[in-house]
This record gives sequence, structure tokens and C-alpha cells, in this order.
Amino acid sequence: MRLVLLGGSLRAASLNLRLLRYLMRELEARGHQVSAYTGNALRLPLYEDGAVPTTKARALHAALCEAEGLVIVSPEYNAGIPGHLKNAVDWLSTLRPSPWPGLPVLLCAASPGAFGGARGLMAWRVTLANMGALALPEAITVPQADQELDADGAPTEARAAALVPKILDGFLSLTAKLR
Ligand SMILES: Cc1cc2nc3c(=O)[nH]c(=O)nc-3n(C[C@H](O)[C@H](O)[C@H](O)COP(=O)(O)O)c2cc1C
Repeated sequence: MRLVLLGGSLRAASLNLRLLRYLMRELEARGHQVSAYTGNALRLPLYEDGAVPTTKARALHAALCEAEGLVIVSPEYNAGIPGHLKNAVDWLSTLRPSPWPGLPVLLCAASPGAFGGARGLMAWRVTLANMGALALPEAITVPQADQELDADGAPTEARAAALVPKILDGFLSLTAKLR
């Protein structure tokens, strides 16, 4: 299936970017066609009424329109969505055709904190529901990610490590049903 991964922070050492790259390899290993939008691809101008979408915004929009599923790997900032990701989503909610209605989305987060970014994912759910996207009820969260992600981005703690393949398979099964 054609899948897009979106996320990470703008830091080169982003834990979420490391997790995203790991998930990307896992999805590729299952035979899916994946593309990732991270870092500079997400440095979009602040959305404002009447602004013309940049090449980067149009590229992201085109990729999402083609995608059969979306994986978001988002840091949690103040229990919410980081500005660069919310800004990208706001751009994507203004471009037509809208890529969001019926789009299956897997939410993932990594944080050095105890909750693994789970509170930020609740904010994502509200935004995604508003746009008509279908967020999988389960999510991948990695608490203490500064210690519990290996160099390749794989979760090392037993619970998280065991959950990743199960949740990926659940997401792929939902995405296949909705094709
Ligand atoms: C502005 C800001 C707000 C943050 N708020 C939270 C928070 O609410 N919950 C949390 O777990 N971590 C929070 N953090 C810490 C981030 O989880 C941590 O910096 C994490 O490493 C960011 O993701 P990254 O490694 O992908 O850049 C915050 C960080 C920043 C810069």
C-alpha cells in the first residue's frame, strides 16, 4: 500500500524522527511503498488567509492525496501538537481536494517523559476527527524515549517492543479494509 509518514521535531537529534525512521523501515520490510515528510519538508510558512501554498506544501498535499494511510510520529509540546506539525495540517486542511476524509491514521509519539507523548496524541485525535480522518484507536507511545529507543529507533522496553508489531499490523489491516 502507499503510506506516508509525517512527523519528528525540527531537531536533528529528534527522538520522534528516530522512531519514525524505524517505523518506516518496518513498513518497507512488510512490502509497502512509503514516503516520509520530516524536517525541512515541514518548514512551511505560517498559514494565513490568502497565502499561496509553497512547493513544499503542494508536495505534501499531493503525497497525502495519493496515500492510502498516514503514520504521524509527533512530539508532545505542552500536552499538544507542536507548531510546525499543526501548521502543516492547517495548510493541508485548506487545499483541495481534501486528503483527510476517510484517511486511516496511526498516531505515534516518543517523549523523555513518563507518558510517552500520549497527551499530545489526544489533541491530534480532536484535530483529525474535525477533518474526517480515521485515527486508529490504538497508538504507539514510547515513554523515557531518551533511554528506551535504540540507535535505530527501535523501542527497547519489553511492553513497547511487543506492541509495535501488533499495532502496525492492526493499522495495516484497517488500511487494507478501507482501500
Ligand atoms: C516547547 C516544549 C514543550 C514540551 N512539552 C512537553 C509535554 O507537554 N510533554 C512531554 O512529554 N514532553 C514535552 N516536551 C519535551 C519533549 O517531549 C522533548 O523535548 C522531546 O525530546 C521532543 O521530541 P523530539 O526528541 O522528537 O524533538 C516539551 C518540549 C518543548 C520544547
